[in-house]
Amino acid sequence: MSKSNDKEYLIQYLKYLKRYKLPLTIGLISIPLISLAHISQPLIIKYAIDNIFLPKNSEKLLLVTMLLTLSVISEFSLRSLQSFLFQFIGQHTVTDIRKDLFRHVTSLKMSYFDKTPQGVLTSRLTSDLESLNDSFATGVVTLIADFLTIIGVLIAMFYLSVELTLVTLAISPPLFIFVNVCRKQLRVQYNRIRSTIGKLNASIQEQLEGLGIIQQYNRQNFNATQFDILNTAYKKATISSVVYDALLYSIIESMASVTLGVVIGYALGFKNGDLISIGLLVAFIDYIQKFFQPLKEISNKFAILQHALASLEKIFGLFKVTDVMPYKDQQLTSFKGEISFKSLSFHYPSHPDKPILDNISFNVRPGQTIAIVGPTGSGKSTIVKLLLGLYEGYAGSILLDQYELRDTNTKSIRNHIATVGQDAKLFNRSVLFNITLGNPLISREDALQAIKLANAEHVIDGLPNGIDSPLNQFGHQLSSGEAQLISFARALASPCPLILLDEATANIDTINEHAIQKATSELLNQRTVIVIAHRLSTIQHSDHIIALKNGKIIESGTHSQLISNHGFYSKLYSMQFEKT
Ligand SMILES: Nc1ncnc2c1ncn2[C@@H]1O[C@H](COP(=O)(O)OP(=O)(O)O)[C@@H](O)[C@H]1O
Ligand SMILES: [Mg+2]
Repeated sequence: MSKSNDKEYLIQYLKYLKRYKLPLTIGLISIPLISLAHISQPLIIKYAIDNIFLPKNSEKLLLVTMLLTLSVISEFSLRSLQSFLFQFIGQHTVTDIRKDLFRHVTSLKMSYFDKTPQGVLTSRLTSDLESLNDSFATGVVTLIADFLTIIGVLIAMFYLSVELTLVTLAISPPLFIFVNVCRKQLRVQYNRIRSTIGKLNASIQEQLEGLGIIQQYNRQNFNATQFDILNTAYKKATISSVVYDALLYSIIESMASVTLGVVIGYALGFKNGDLISIGLLVAFIDYIQKFFQPLKEISNKFAILQHALASLEKIFGLFKVTDVMPYKDQQLTSFKGEISFKSLSFHYPSHPDKPILDNISFNVRPGQTIAIVGPTGSGKSTIVKLLLGLYEGYAGSILLDQYELRDTNTKSIRNHIATVGQDAKLFNRSVLFNITLGNPLISREDALQAIKLANAEHVIDGLPNGIDSPLNQFGHQLSSGEAQLISFARALASPCPLILLDEATANIDTINEHAIQKATSELLNQRTVIVIAHRLSTIQHSDHIIALKNGKIIESGTHSQLISNHGFYSKLYSMQFEKT
């Protein structure tokens, strides 16, 4: 990660934090106040011992007691307040960032999702944000507080006795070297832990998603091995970090005791005992402990900070991804449904050397139905994806009415298109929502009507609450054919002049398919339809049929023209005819 990016990301993060100016200011002000209260206590106790208890002079007893109580109470209450405030700011900030990040991610182009695993995006929006919050609320803030405390303790110690402070500090250099070595080692271990947990998460997620297949092929054992390897690697990395952590902790602890011994020995043995008051010694012992206390956890805190920087980079780096559809002014306000492809060629951005569509030209007039047939991989779905503006960068021309697709606002184009694909994507919401997708222009009656047209009534009848029944995640509760009927209804319910059917009836039986065809023929007659289908019986009444192979149009015409052509289509037709 480059330093300049670091700074840029930090500034972005600060912008989010700055929305909570008041709690942030109070929280920040409380940091030095807490340190002050923390450091004042040994001084008060020293005063009490030397000036009240030893001379048996109770004159200022009440005042000193009150002062100490005040100091302890303010430290306690400020600490609670601070902890609450920083958690409050942290949680609010995370929520704000997540909202913006989610919106940003959902606006990215399809080509970005082709190259980015879904799990990565999930962890950006969940665990990375959480760790950013942890690091803010516990890491950075306490690190500042510790730093202030150490400085304050040193000042107080110098104030009490320059000589004893120098003795204390004389022992410190080897300690700092040791802390540094441990810190570096811990950083290596924490990085290992992080990368293994990432892989472990990805492996678990992938395997749970594909559990059906894994069980059917009896591959649980193979996958369990892979899981075990990662699981063990994670354990090893964690244990070595624990070793360094324990080492660091115990050495600092014992160093604190050694320092205490040396200081007491020096004070009472070397020097004449009465040069140093009892109160001063007590205060010093307290300060030495307060000095070592933050050091014990400093390695942990540095690790958290490191983690924070990594999360910062991941999160704000994702904001920097600008694979968004460029905004275009030209709006497709009304669309009659005329489409023409002129010498269109296309390759996917990820594979520039693999042409997918090659010099495609065809024309569809409003209300016409055009069918595309061709072997798997011939580029049929790519035509649909281009029309939806999911990919850019085609050569040639695609005209919607008279508008060139590449110059037209993508949102405005999609407003006029309804699609049904091969795998129906259903959401974990009610059937009604799955049909309207929350579009307020589509009424409940429209949805019911569409269900009827899509021949999906029997699907709804089987559900406990009819159209209001929730569908389980990914529509698993329905068969793929039933799910496809629902997504058919979704397309029929939206009043779009262009309907794209990409193997929309692939999972539906012939009887249902015919029923849908009959029910929808009138509706579809009023709209432009591009239909991709393998079952030729579905498409033989289309106005025009295009046969695609390796991205090229090899034949086109009406059903009867193509049959009399005795080419690819007619061969395909007779093969299907023989079968049925
Ligand atoms: N997102 C993608 N990135 C790269 N290549 C792709 C992508 N989607 C499809 N392809 C490739 O484009 C070719 C045509 O795919 P597609 O249009 O889906 O074919 P069809 O729908 O006719 O079966 C295939 O060779 C496929 O591998
Ligand atoms: Mg396809």
